[in-house]
Amino acid sequence: MSELPTVTTVADVRERVAGWRAAHQTIAFVPTMGNLHDGHLSLVRLARKAADRVVMSIFVNPTQFGPSEDFAAYPRTPEEDRERLSQAGGVDLLFVPSDGEVYPFGTRDAVRVTLPPLASELCGASRPGHFDGVASVVSRLLNIVTPDVLVLGRKDYQQLVLVERMVEDLRMSVRVISGATVREPDGLAMSSRNRYLTSDERAKAPALYRALAAAQAALEAGEKDHARIEQDAMRALEQAGFVPDYVEIRRARDLGKPSPGDAASDLIVLGAARLGRARLIDNTSR
Ligand code: PAF
Repeated sequence: MSELPTVTTVADVRERVAGWRAAHQTIAFVPTMGNLHDGHLSLVRLARKAADRVVMSIFVNPTQFGPSEDFAAYPRTPEEDRERLSQAGGVDLLFVPSDGEVYPFGTRDAVRVTLPPLASELCGASRPGHFDGVASVVSRLLNIVTPDVLVLGRKDYQQLVLVERMVEDLRMSVRVISGATVREPDGLAMSSRNRYLTSDERAKAPALYRALAAAQAALEAGEKDHARIEQDAMRALEQAGFVPDYVEIRRARDLGKPSPGDAASDLIVLGAARLGRARLIDNTSR
């Protein structure tokens, strides 16, 4: 088990990063909200390949939760997280800031990032302001850590596309790379929110990925009627006991609405659905 240096202040992160910069070392950054699972650890491994040093943050960001969402109940497991990271190795610095360290003027009076309209579609349609909150915290963390490489997972595919867009549009000097979704043996995407599932719901949960994968297979088999593919997937989710939010086929590159000439390999199927207390999301990115 390796030692895991942990800091809580911006000043301490900057001091550590300045030392690495002085030694001409590059830095990869993995932002998280904790409750770490194998998906996060796979991002650490990707980060290690991409740079000399790896910084991870654990911060449950209040500005990305709506008033009726699970901010207070979001699983916070600091001891287990430290233990997992120490066992797995690969992280050179863990940054665990307080709210005041990230939002020095408080969250109400904070400067915010406003994303383009894609932020109000798909998951954004039922989570108003969510992606602006994500962009706001990611931009702050990037300003604090100043990494060369930002590492995100493809499970939150809309988040990935919007952060890529923010980085490009705001001329930020960081390269964004992404890691594939890590799945349980039955296909369920790993997620901190899986712990909200009862054992009965857990048994049903893999139906989300099955429905999206079937939709992607239909596209690849040449089916052109997107509305019908989406409706079939929604119906399959209802039959499996979910309350579906959406299933949509989009262009993988930028999540724009597909045009008739797009090849199936350029498309992605995304979905979100409620199962008991949990709102699960997934997609067919590879
Ligand atoms: O994906 C997450 O865990 C969060 O949205 C992120 C990127 C750490 C921002 O709070």
